[in-house]
This record gives sequence, C-alpha cells and structure tokens, in this order.
Amino acid sequence: PMIYAITPTYARPVQKAELIRLCHTFLLVPNFHWIVVEDAAEPTDLVTNLLKRCGVVYTQLKALTPPEMKLKPRDPNWRYPRGVWQRNEALTWIRNNVPVSREGVVYFADDDNTYSLELFQDLRSTKAVSVFPVALVGGVLLEKPEVSPDGRVIGFNALWEPQRPYPIDMAGFAVNLQLILAKSEAKFSLEVKRGYLESEFIGHLISGREELEAKADLCTKVLVWHTRAEAIKTTGENIRKRKGLPMTNVGFE
Ligand code: UGA
Ligand code: MN
Repeated sequence: PMIYAITPTYARPVQKAELIRLCHTFLLVPNFHWIVVEDAAEPTDLVTNLLKRCGVVYTQLKALTPPEMKLKPRDPNWRYPRGVWQRNEALTWIRNNVPVSREGVVYFADDDNTYSLELFQDLRSTKAVSVFPVALVGGVLLEKPEVSPDGRVIGFNALWEPQRPYPIDMAGFAVNLQLILAKSEAKFSLEVKRGYLESEFIGHLISGREELEAKADLCTKVLVWHTRAEAIKTTGENIRKRKGLPMTNVGFE
C-alpha cells in the first residue's frame, strides 16, 4: 500500500528547516506520496523549490486560512484550530485524484513533528483506523492508547480532555485510503470544541473505539514525537531596520 502523508505548512522563520527535515525522513520511506498544503494564497517559491529538489514523490497544494481564523503572533495557540483548511484541501485532492483501485493509507504529518521510519512500516497495514503512542503532547511525555493482552484498544491515558471520544493527537492515527474515499463527508470541522478536531474526524470514519487497530507493537513503542520548534526571536533584525540596514537574509530563500 501507498502512504499518503498530508502536511499543512505556513511561512515562518523555521519553515524551511522543518520541511528539509521531513524531506530527508520521507526520502527513506518507500511507496510514499507527500501532499504538502501551503497556508498561502499562492504557492511560494520557497516551498516550490524545496519540493522540486527534495526527491520525494509529492503534490503541492494551497489553501489559505481565512484571516479571521488565523492566529496572530500574540494569540494563545489554542484560539483557533490549525491546518484545517489545508488538510481538507488534501482530502479533496485525494478523493478527486487517487483511483479507487489503489491500496493506501492516509496519515496527517504536521510539518514540525518528528517521525521514525518504523512508523511508516507499521501504518501500511491499517485496515480502517489505526492508533499508536505520541510522545511530548497533551501536557505529558507520552500519550498512548491502552491495549488489552489480546490486542484490543480499551482506553487512552490522555490527561487533557480525556472525555473526548478519541483522545489522541493528529499524529497518533492513520486511516485506510478506501475508508477516506468511501466516507466522502469526512472532513475537519471548525465548529468543534477546542481539542475535538481529531475525535470529530475519526467519528465520521468508524462507529466506536472497538474498531481501532493498535500499531507500534500494540502501542508499546514510541514512533512519533510531537516536537515544536520554539518561536525564533528576530529582534536583531528590528535593530538593523532602525539603523537603515537590510535584513540579514536578503538574497537567501
Ligand atoms: C496540535 C496538533 O498536533 C495539530 O495537528 C492540530 O492541528 C493543532 O493542535 C490544533 O488543535 O489545531 P500544534 O503543534 O499546536 O498541534 O499545531 P501546529 O504544529 O502549530 O499546527 C498544525 C499544522 O498546521 C502544522 O503542520 C502547521 O504547519 C500548520 N499550520 C499552522 C498552518 O498551516 N497554518 C497556521 O497558521 C498554523
Ligand atoms: Mn505541531
């Protein structure tokens, strides 16, 4: 089966570094199709050139988050959900462009996380919706599904909003392509309570926790980390500006 990894991305000082990191991971994954969706009105040169040089099979899309739903630099990051328009754009692309005969798995790979190669190996056998541990998220070191000795998902250890139907991060599940194609109404919604993005989406695909498949050796391994780059301080650029000097990266992408 082919892996379709959907990555929303937006312009900021660390964007290129994050995408290079992902590119170099994904180069090592066979049968992999990277769907990169820019949060931009038009494709940018930075992302266009990076993808051309990267060597991973890719599709470049764009979907601008409406300005009234976009986080301002001083907003707390939970004010609006992120990556919603972008993931939905990618789902529409998949539904319009991937043949029904194709075997595949869809995974939401945000641009700042860290992915082990074993993860993709494991995801490939997803029959409906698979789940697995995610490190460094939800205020704890490790969020994971609880799995019974016979391999059934019987609960979750999430501390934050544990009453969610599926209390997991975006990085903690994968979906079979056929299910994505069959349930064409499944999209990410803006109408959901904070933190319910994943649960609401998964709710369109299956009818209960008993249908979840435990991956990563029955959820005993960490194969993905919800890393986040710290916001870069560019106060030196402001000082230069006041002195009438150009930005330090003029001429660099
Ligand atoms: C957590 C989850 O890991 C995200 O998958 C989820 O979308 C988010 O919460 C949420 O509740 O909306 P967090 O690390 O806080 O994630 O989110 P980011 O990594 O900042 O954003 C998720 C994705 O959306 C990233 O790929 C990022 O590049 C993209 N994004 C972010 C945009 O496309 N536009 C933005 O303005 C901000
Ligand atoms: Mn993130």
